Amino acid sequence: MGTQLFPGWVSKAFFWLSIAIPASAIDLDVSSKNSICSATALIQDGIMDYYDANNYGGSVGMFQAPYYWWEAGEVFGGMLENWYLCQNTSYEQVLYDSMLAQAGPDYDYMPSNQSMVEGNDDQGVWGLTVMGAVERNFTNPTEKGVPGWLAMVQGVFNTMYSRWDDQHCGGGVRWQIFTWNSGYNYKNTISNACLFQLAARLGRYTGNDTYIDVAEKIFDWMVDVGYIVLNDTANVYDGANIDDNCTDITKLEWSYNQGVVLGGAAYMYNATNGSSEWETRLSQVVGGSTSLFFRNKIMYEMTCQDAKSCNNDQRSFKSIFSRMLSLTSVLAPYTADTINPLMEASAEAAAKSCTGGSDGHTCGMNWETGSWDGYYGLGEQACALEVIQSLLYDQRPAPYTDSDGGTSVGDANAGLNKTTTNVLHSDLKITHKDKVGAAILTAVVIAVLVGGSVWMMF
Ligand SMILES: *[C@@H]1O[C@H](CO)[C@@H](O)[C@H](O)[C@H]1NC(C)=O
Ligand SMILES: *[C@@H]1O[C@H](CO)[C@@H](O)[C@H](O)[C@H]1NC(C)=O
Ligand SMILES: *[C@@H]1O[C@H](CO)[C@@H](O)[C@H](O)[C@H]1NC(C)=O
Ligand SMILES: *[C@@H]1O[C@H](CO)[C@@H](O)[C@H](O)[C@H]1NC(C)=O
Ligand SMILES: *[C@@H]1O[C@H](CO)[C@@H](O)[C@H](O)[C@H]1NC(C)=O
Ligand SMILES: *[C@@H]1O[C@H](CO)[C@@H](O)[C@H](O)[C@H]1NC(C)=O
Ligand SMILES: *[C@@H]1O[C@H](CO)[C@@H](O)[C@H](O)[C@H]1NC(C)=O
Ligand SMILES: *[C@@H]1O[C@H](CO)[C@@H](O)[C@H](O)[C@H]1NC(C)=O
Ligand SMILES: *[C@@H]1O[C@H](CO)[C@@H](O)[C@H](O)[C@H]1NC(C)=O
Repeated sequence: MGTQLFPGWVSKAFFWLSIAIPASAIDLDVSSKNSICSATALIQDGIMDYYDANNYGGSVGMFQAPYYWWEAGEVFGGMLENWYLCQNTSYEQVLYDSMLAQAGPDYDYMPSNQSMVEGNDDQGVWGLTVMGAVERNFTNPTEKGVPGWLAMVQGVFNTMYSRWDDQHCGGGVRWQIFTWNSGYNYKNTISNACLFQLAARLGRYTGNDTYIDVAEKIFDWMVDVGYIVLNDTANVYDGANIDDNCTDITKLEWSYNQGVVLGGAAYMYNATNGSSEWETRLSQVVGGSTSLFFRNKIMYEMTCQDAKSCNNDQRSFKSIFSRMLSLTSVLAPYTADTINPLMEASAEAAAKSCTGGSDGHTCGMNWETGSWDGYYGLGEQACALEVIQSLLYDQRPAPYTDSDGGTSVGDANAGLNKTTTNVLHSDLKITHKDKVGAAILTAVVIAVLVGGSVWMMF
């Protein structure tokens, strides 16, 4: 994930343009599934305005610039939930094609033309989306030689976990996968939170305790190092650099970090049959999530929204945050009384923001004004989609497991043979001992990757 801003004049031009056009706002009756699904269908059509796979320069499974690869993973995750919650198959083929197109040659969400820049967080967010396909019993791949969604998630988990680095900060994975990317020395919360949540979900889905143990270890590490501060309103911070052993923490709070930790804790609570340890932790993270990121019951991105400084990535965070709150309310039903009223108020407020643009129902960033605020983009659409469809989670079965409805084929060893996994290990050791050697190795690795065949070298 990186940074990039829409030029302000684009928003303003759009805003003035819209004044001339009669608004056809989204009508939302929060008690009607039909109304919720019609509203979200309009919002998804808005999302598809940014999807250009079939035209020159477009790619299957990616949105147009300036939206990064990871954000496509996040948005398709929300659309996959819509497919399930509304039982609307209009975008089933788009989702299917996208998840396959971006899986990469080894089916672990490291496609060759992203792997040079890909971070653990990018791979992790795609992993969460494909785990959604597993748990929602999404149409299984039928092409010969293509593994099941579950095997792909296991490939993501195994490759990410192979990058666990005990040598700095007592554990954790780094933000970046490759030494040549800036951010290689930063261990960020979102990468670790994604790995934590993948482990929790795989543990709940397969019943394999190895995943549960790994999830526990990752969570404990995030607490030990101070990325998660557990109290009645638990804070989740952004991350820290390894140069000072992760002691100088960047204390920015983003709803997606909070959300992915929250969701992981909810899966752990459910997977452990409501153990008291996980009930305590989950309640604390629910406390933080529902107090820090809501104002008068309406969700907001507290670190950048008021300052109007949210970049394109940050403008999408309420999307995955909404999904995680919704999942929590069904996996830990005791939290529903706390979470649901906030989601209902936020969904109504978000719908009121969807009066912008030339279509008259483009959604805005700030939901607290009762109307469109002049912002628009893929992130705004995705956030409105997920907060509004949140109202349907209790009307459909909870995420399946392999014993109550899931049919995806798995492979616990997927990804373990991957050559780049070993490249990273040798790379890590050399960086430690001999930076010059590492730089040479890095240059060789770049050359080999650019040349397209890591296999031949190792
Ligand atoms: C299903 O989605 C399509 C595409 O967004 C939309 O046109 C259609 O109205 C939706 N169906 C329902 C029943 O909401
Ligand atoms: C990445 O590779 C895919 C599959 O080969 C291709 O469809 C897509 O256009 C490429 N994307 C970019 C940004 O180069
Ligand atoms: C680095 O941090 C970890 C985790 O907090 C701790 O266990 C370890 O002792 C620290 N190492 C040093 C050299 O301070
Ligand atoms: C929780 O911990 C954070 C960070 O130390 C602190 O700012 C906050 O006041 C604490 N909240 C409670 C309820 O103790
Ligand atoms: C949870 O309950 C199920 C069914 O009662 C049981 O099979 C399983 O072992 C329990 N798991 C844990 C972690 O207690
Ligand atoms: C786990 O999730 C299921 C599905 O929503 C729910 O019925 C069950 O009560 C949850 N378990 C606990 C301990 O809350
Ligand atoms: C899951 O999908 C399979 C294959 O399409 C289907 O046979 C099965 O009925 C589905 N199960 C549920 C619970 O939807
Ligand atoms: C459980 O998961 C671990 C970790 O991927 C794997 O090594 C092991 O083979 C799995 N066990 C079973 C019974 O599938
Ligand atoms: C990994 O390599 C071993 C030994 O070469 C092979 O038996 C196994 O099938 C491979 N696993 C995968 C997932 O490719």
